[in-house]
Amino acid sequence: MPVADRVEQVRSQVSEMAESAASPDELMQKMVKLLHERMLKYNWVGFYMLEPGAKPPVLVLGAFEGAMTPHVRIPLNQGICGAAASSGQTVVVDDVSKDPRYLACSLETKSEIVVPVFVRGEVVGELDIDSHFPAAFTSEHQELVQYCALLVGKKLESSHP
Ligand code: SME
Repeated sequence: MPVADRVEQVRSQVSEMAESAASPDELMQKMVKLLHERMLKYNWVGFYMLEPGAKPPVLVLGAFEGAMTPHVRIPLNQGICGAAASSGQTVVVDDVSKDPRYLACSLETKSEIVVPVFVRGEVVGELDIDSHFPAAFTSEHQELVQYCALLVGKKLESSHP
């Protein structure tokens, strides 16, 4: 299946999931499983969420698929994860070996994308994906991952009106 078709298919599957999931946690669990299974170069898929009230702020590992990572708690001044959460911007790294911010999760990882999750304009966490392939996160992948993060933000908003 061409990648554009697969992206389109997964996009509609996550939309349905967002409608039917009973809670944001259920949506995040199902989403990481789907992305990991269906997107062949997404070798580690997980959410990090900001710990409520933590000072200084810290990202805590949430739902994930793939090998266990040593990075369960990440301060905002560390890693690609910290960079995405503190800037509120998507970060795409085509070659992690060339990025001094990178915190290694697996020796096989070559590229990474981290997309912040917003609730009412505030960063509350992020969706992090690692690939064993260099430069795996082209613009069509960025759009898909950003759409997934948007759905989770909306679900969190509607569950805490
Ligand atoms: N590589 C991330 C750390 C998390 S693991 O990839 C799961 C980073 O540099 O922040």
